Amino acid sequence: MTNQIKNPYLKLKNNILHLEDISLEFLSEKIGTPLYVYSRANIKDSWNRYYNAIKNNNAMVCYGMKANSNLAILKEFVNLGSGFDIVSGGELERVLSVGGDPKKIVFSGVGKQEWEIKNALESGIKCFNVESEAELYKISQIASALKITAPISLRVNPDVDAKTHPYISTGLKENKFGIAFKDAFDCYKIASSLPFIKIIGIDCHIGSQLTEISPFSAALEKIIPLIKNLIDNNINIKHIDIGGGLGITYKDEIVPDPKDIVDAARFKLKEANLNHLELILEPGRSLIGNSGILLTKVLYLKHSDDKNFIIVDAAMNDLIRPALYQSYHEVQQVKARTGQAREYDIVGPVCESADWLAKNRLLTVKENDLLVIESAGAYCTTMASNYNSRVKPAEVMVDGSEYYIIKNREKLSDILKFETTI
Ligand code: LLP
Repeated sequence: MTNQIKNPYLKLKNNILHLEDISLEFLSEKIGTPLYVYSRANIKDSWNRYYNAIKNNNAMVCYGMKANSNLAILKEFVNLGSGFDIVSGGELERVLSVGGDPKKIVFSGVGKQEWEIKNALESGIKCFNVESEAELYKISQIASALKITAPISLRVNPDVDAKTHPYISTGLKENKFGIAFKDAFDCYKIASSLPFIKIIGIDCHIGSQLTEISPFSAALEKIIPLIKNLIDNNINIKHIDIGGGLGITYKDEIVPDPKDIVDAARFKLKEANLNHLELILEPGRSLIGNSGILLTKVLYLKHSDDKNFIIVDAAMNDLIRPALYQSYHEVQQVKARTGQAREYDIVGPVCESADWLAKNRLLTVKENDLLVIESAGAYCTTMASNYNSRVKPAEVMVDGSEYYIIKNREKLSDILKFETTI
C-alpha cells in the first residue's frame, strides 16, 4: 500500500493538510518554504514505544542524535528521560547545553579526536564505545594524563548482514566500524591491562533502517559466546549495547516494534544466563524519522514527451537521502486538486541530476502549490548543506494548536560571514 500518510498527525481538515492542529498552508505563509515541521505528539508516541519496551527490563535508550540534533528535539528527549549516543564533541556540547545527563551518554565513532575524548572524560560520560585498538591506547593515554578513569566498551563488528542499503550497513567485516570479531577478545585483554581504563560493556551496531529482527539476533548469537569467554577470563561487563538501526515505514515496509527487539535480546540473554546485563539501545531514525516533514512549494512545472518535472524550492542540499541512497519519501499535497493527474519527478533547483526528491509520482499540481515530503525527521536537517549557496531551511515544532520556530531560516549573510577575499 503506498501513498498512505506515514505520520498519523498529518490530517486533512477543511481540505487542507494539517500537522496536528496547525495548517501547513498557514505555516508556509507565516514562515516560508522550504520548511521542516515536526509533530511533538508523534515524537512522544515514538518515545513511548521504546519506553514500553525498556521499562521493567533493565534497559536504557540512548537516542542516536545524529538523526536529528536540533536543540529543541534534544531537550524533548532529555525531558522524556532519554540518554544519548553521540559521535562528536559537537554533539556532546549540544546535549549538555540542554541539560542532558552525562551519565546517560555513550560515545561512538571511529575517529574520536583528543579534544573530544578529553571533553567527554571531563564531563563524566557513561561509556566510550571504542572502535579500534589504537583508540583504546589513545583514551588510556589521555585518561592517565587527566587522572580520570575512562569507562569503556568495545564496539565489536560481528560480521552479520543487516540486509539494508550498503551505505548504511555497518556490521560487515569490510565496513570500517568496530573491532573485527576475531580480534575482539585480545583487544579486551589489552584493555584490561591498560591504566585508567575500566571495562564496563560490549557494543555493536550493525546498520540502519533494518526491517527484520533476524540480523539483531544473528549479532547477539555471535556476541554472547564472546561475553562468556570474557567472563571465563575474569573480564566482567555490566551492559550490552546492541546499537540502533530499527527501521521506519517510508513506503510499505513492515517494521518490528522496539519491544520485539528488546524481547528477542532478553530471550537470548536469559538463555545464556546473562540476564543481569543492562541492555542499551541507540535508536535514531525510529525515534524521530516519521515525526518530521519537509514542506516545499512548487516553483515550475516542466512537461515534455519523455518526462514531467515538478521543480520545487527544496533540493538535495536540504534533503540528500534520495540522491545518496535512492531513498523513497512519500509525497502529499497540502491541498488536493481535481483534474487529470500526470506522472512527475519532483526535483529541486540544484545543478545536479541527482537533485531529486521523488520519482514517478502521480499528481495534479499547479505552480505555487505546497507539497509535503514525508519521513523527513531523521538524517535530513543534520545532513543538509549550503550547496549552490542555498540557505538551510527553518524548523518548526508543532504542539497541538501551538507552533514554535526551533530554528530560524539561515540568511545569506550567515553563510558568507566565514569567508574573506585576499
Ligand atoms: N548508533 C550508531 C553507532 C550509529 O552509527 C547509528 C547510525 C545509530 C546508532 C542510529 O541508527 P538508527 O537507529 O538511526 O538507524 N544517513 C543514513 C543513516 C546513517 C546511520 C548512521 N548510523 C540515512 O539517512 O539513512
